[in-house]
Amino acid sequence: MKLKDLNALFLHELRDLYSAEKQLIKALPKMAKATTNEDLRQAFEMHLEETEAQVKRLDEVFEELGVSPRGPKCAAMAGLIEEAQELLYEDSDPRVLDAALICAAQRVEHYEIAGYGCVRSLAQQLGMHEFAAELQETLDEEKMTNEKLNELALGEVNEEAADASEEIGSTPRP
Ligand SMILES: [Fe+2]
Ligand SMILES: [Fe+2]
Repeated sequence: MKLKDLNALFLHELRDLYSAEKQLIKALPKMAKATTNEDLRQAFEMHLEETEAQVKRLDEVFEELGVSPRGPKCAAMAGLIEEAQELLYEDSDPRVLDAALICAAQRVEHYEIAGYGCVRSLAQQLGMHEFAAELQETLDEEKMTNEKLNELALGEVNEEAADASEEIGSTPRP
């Protein structure tokens, strides 16, 4: 890929995120359906709504720039989603699956946090301060989602997954 200037890099990164978000819109309902934990289901559903709004936010940026949002498929997000979906094919204890879904979802959020941090900083460098503020808004949402997932894991999900292990008599190795 040829990137002739910072503008080209900015566009490339934005399109990567656009593809990533679009893929996530298809994956989040499957994750919501797969969990038996009501709080986790709600968190996935809420983030689906947020993700749809984030795509609109990106759409507006592309529109103002007068360019198409279309670019190559984000291979990293495709990989993260593929790994998350592999979890669903296995016959896991539902409580352990919930803990696993949180791990997969947190990976996704961290990827997005990195991506939005980059485009926010690039927009600032290019003097596009309105775009930088918009992208910062999405960045904050991704960080809050990650934090929420962390709280769910530490609050009950991991403990319940540990109960599942005790029931089948497997003890963690020291
Ligand atoms: Fe997002
Ligand atoms: Fe996200």
